[in-house]
Amino acid sequence: MAKFLILVGSMNGHALMAAKGAAAMITKLGHHSEIVMEHDISQLTCDKDEIILICSSTAHQGQVPDNIYPLYLGLDNQRVDLTGKYYGVIALGDSYFPPTQFAMGGKLLENALYSCGAKRIGDMALMDAQQVDNHALAAALWTQEWIAKVETFALADGQTKSEEAA
Ligand SMILES: Cc1cc2nc3c(=O)[nH]c(=O)nc-3n(C[C@H](O)[C@H](O)[C@H](O)COP(=O)(O)O)c2cc1C
Repeated sequence: MAKFLILVGSMNGHALMAAKGAAAMITKLGHHSEIVMEHDISQLTCDKDEIILICSSTAHQGQVPDNIYPLYLGLDNQRVDLTGKYYGVIALGDSYFPPTQFAMGGKLLENALYSCGAKRIGDMALMDAQQVDNHALAAALWTQEWIAKVETFALADGQTKSEEAA
């Protein structure tokens, strides 16, 4: 069983709905998850085996939502070493906005995690409000495929590390 920390950035709840859909799929596939709306950078390093799932919308013309901004600042300033951590990203946006701003909230967070040494598994999920009505369902379906990649890469890698340590 793997553990997932779902970090949500949201204004009006759509990213939270996506997070709940992802969490439901994680549970269905036999893993554990925790959804967090109020963030503290120390949460990211509490459990070295926990896999991070960012689930964030885009606000303020290409910025992260206010509730995840403090975490983003901490990551962007590289205040934490995330070497050995794995993550995935669900980025919500609206293609009504220019391409340079589209889904930038998730993209900024992905870049910040990468800068801190974490490794992304799979492609980012891009959820365009012009196309997606049911964010929970869309996130659950994406998560189903993402978990298969997590099981291939992160969990296999963890097993190798345990064997080396033994
Ligand atoms: C005030 C405001 C600003 C937004 N700015 C952007 C933006 O710059 N780029 C983008 O792709 N989407 C933008 N969006 C669209 C949201 O990211 C999108 O509707 C998302 O699904 C909202 O999810 P949330 O309710 O979890 O925040 C904006 C929406 C609002 C209400």
